[in-house]
Amino acid sequence: MEFFDKLGKKASEAYKVTADKTGKIAKEAKLKMKMADLKGQANDIYMEIGKKVYEKHVKEETLDIKKELEEECTKLDVISDEIDSILKECIDLKDKKVLVRCDFNVPLLEDGTIRDNTRIVAALPTIQYLLEQNCAIILCSHLGRPKGKVVPEMSLAPVAKELTRLLGKEVKLAKDVIGEDAKKLAEELKPGEIMLLENVRFEPGEETNDPELAKNFASLADVFVNDAFGTAHRAHASTAGIADYIPAVSGFLIEKELKFLGDAINNPKRPFVAILGGKKVSDKIGVIDSLLEKVDTLLIGGAMAYTFFRSMGYTVGNSICEEDKLDLAQNLLKKAEEKGVKLMLPVDTKIGKEFKEDTESK
Ligand code: 3PG
Repeated sequence: MEFFDKLGKKASEAYKVTADKTGKIAKEAKLKMKMADLKGQANDIYMEIGKKVYEKHVKEETLDIKKELEEECTKLDVISDEIDSILKECIDLKDKKVLVRCDFNVPLLEDGTIRDNTRIVAALPTIQYLLEQNCAIILCSHLGRPKGKVVPEMSLAPVAKELTRLLGKEVKLAKDVIGEDAKKLAEELKPGEIMLLENVRFEPGEETNDPELAKNFASLADVFVNDAFGTAHRAHASTAGIADYIPAVSGFLIEKELKFLGDAINNPKRPFVAILGGKKVSDKIGVIDSLLEKVDTLLIGGAMAYTFFRSMGYTVGNSICEEDKLDLAQNLLKKAEEKGVKLMLPVDTKIGKEFKEDTESK
């Protein structure tokens, strides 16, 4: 028994080390893929060992598995050595100037105050870590969809203010995205200081992933950190393009979300229930489609629920609804039924005259 305990511990330690290291580091995409592959291999071996221990102890079978388990552990040792050699090549962030792409696309009230700061709070672990590494930190994000024009209502000024409050440290807001002011502030930024560029979508090249704009972003810093999980599905200049010009790594938010999603999707505890929200079904077709293969129940909330209601023949008034996606919503409902997945929509809709808290409603 002691032998199996030792093996189990060794396997789980090796897996944990692999998992922990994988997310935080890796010099470039190639390295990240290699790390993910190694993590996958370690995971497989860990599962194999678990299965064998289970067969031996739970099913009381009398297999002689000692030799096999030792072989599996040797494989884990090899993977561990490989990871160590990769780590040696990884980026040292100490004292570096770092450009961090965040998703600060927060909801604003009419007076410009932030209604929900969750996304800003979620970015703090990466920022704190970079501060510990004595980095000069240049943050950037989009807010809303200004479509390549400067829209003052979509300025990141409220975000800079909120970051300053949360970090207890001034976060300077540049007057532009990549103009004179941003460049000057970035150049003068010292280790331990933080600044924020203006809304990257004020630049027409952002959404088209213009290489010139990406190069300009890259020229501000030594290293790029992408921590914009909510925007990771967009190949824009400040999320994807920039990574062609300077070393790039993921931040802790992306790591956390990937790890959580990976475990939840590949190894779910049943019943497996997924909750989805957001405005548009069209943005989430792939996710819904693939979740329907795995979940027992899918709860759909947020404005996209109205597209589903509409596709079922209900009226939805002025609520956000993608009229051109009704067929799609219907197909997803049909697929859920065929797969035996319970697809549930909200039952507590409130109908009001206007989109205001105190409006007459029922
Ligand atoms: C979001 O809120 O979904 C993300 O910030 C991405 O925003 P986008 O849909 O405008 O690209």
